[in-house]
Amino acid sequence: MGYFRKTILVTGGAGFIGSHVVRLFVNKYPDCRIVNVDKLTYAGNLANLKDIEDRPNYSFVKADICDFERMRALMRETEADGIIHLAAESHVDRSIRDPFTFAMTNVIGTLSLLQAAREYWESRPEGYDGKRFYHISTDEVYGTLEITCPEGTVPPFTTRASSGVRHLAYGDTFFRETDKYDPHSPYSASKASSDHFVRAFHDTYGMPSIVTNCSNNYGPYQFPEKLIPLFINNIRHRKPLPVYGKGENVRDWLYVEDHARAIDLIFHEGRTGETYNIGGFNEWKNIDIVKVLVRTVDRLLGRGEEEDMNLITFVRDRAGHDLRYAIDSTRLQTELGWEPSLQFEEGIMKTARWYLENQEWLDRVTSGDYLRYYDEMYLHR
Ligand code: NAD
Ligand code: TYD
Repeated sequence: MGYFRKTILVTGGAGFIGSHVVRLFVNKYPDCRIVNVDKLTYAGNLANLKDIEDRPNYSFVKADICDFERMRALMRETEADGIIHLAAESHVDRSIRDPFTFAMTNVIGTLSLLQAAREYWESRPEGYDGKRFYHISTDEVYGTLEITCPEGTVPPFTTRASSGVRHLAYGDTFFRETDKYDPHSPYSASKASSDHFVRAFHDTYGMPSIVTNCSNNYGPYQFPEKLIPLFINNIRHRKPLPVYGKGENVRDWLYVEDHARAIDLIFHEGRTGETYNIGGFNEWKNIDIVKVLVRTVDRLLGRGEEEDMNLITFVRDRAGHDLRYAIDSTRLQTELGWEPSLQFEEGIMKTARWYLENQEWLDRVTSGDYLRYYDEMYLHR
């Protein structure tokens, strides 16, 4: 498109991870046009991108990825060279209540985008040259791992340490790119299915695609239905902290800006047809995270030490609750030199501070007022 070197469509750019990806690309690549394609579901919030919304290389299109005709038209109109696909339904608890929406958005939406990209790129004289379809997926497709540890050690133990960032693990098994898929929740089943479609398009039509499977992200702009922002907000309001089961489940946590940095690297330098696992080497039991959150938020609010520990409330476990996720991201480290940059306590401090300093954002998102903001800003302009 004329003045810009390249056009990249980012789907789900108004969501949590998508907004960090859009911000990074808009700032880092002023010669690339970044088109944010988002339906603005409850999880999409254009206030996440307020700081970059007026940039000349940024534009927003309100559209549903399941609308195939719209995706076809969008490919032609924007002459997109690349797609970074993050749009999805992303919350496991919601998928348990409403699996159809997950199949529709995550599976059919991805297929619609793949087919639209394929038709447009195959119609071009240069074909797939210089094109890229990058699909963002999750570690949850691999299933669950046991909590194990070498004899004589008590988890968590330090497995590897490099670049000063400590690595914590609750076992000696990790998800690898070559592992078979074994999803358990409707969310992970829908993401697994979408990953298979992306690889099928690569193998069948030669689509230059890449899939990455990342562990749990945390950081600013995450919708407060997920563990970390939900609990920060609840501690702030002194509301109960509902810990599922005994809080023994283990997740591998990565700061969202480290994920966005990995996406940038892989989009530009990753090998098409490949899968890369992205993880933080940073495994925590839920109950331990909750305690860190209580201490951090109480300290930031100037409350007494341990004052809010009594908010911790053990509730009925999530159905089909996977015990442990742990990613081995050695391929990404050795091939492309990516490493997580933040120690967890530092990331949690930054995150808690951000939510407490952005109470207006939290209040708007939790009250539903943000829907009016979209209308005012984008629909009636
Ligand atoms: P999110 O729920 O915060 O955002 C999803 C975005 O997609 C929202 O802006 C929403 O409006 C948009 N969207 C939903 N349905 C759409 C549709 N039909 N058409 C267009 N847009 C639609 O999600 P997130 O946490 O930022 O996750 C982004 C991606 O990363 C997802 O694909 C998710 O599976 C994957 N992922 C997330 C994590 C995590 O910890 N959050 C970890 C690994 C992978
Ligand atoms: P979540 O943030 O929903 O991410 P995911 O299910 O994709 O890992 O949950 C993280 C962990 O925290 C998971 O083991 C479920 C648990 N959890 C609770 O104990 N209480 C809660 O209120 C929530 C939302 C999650």
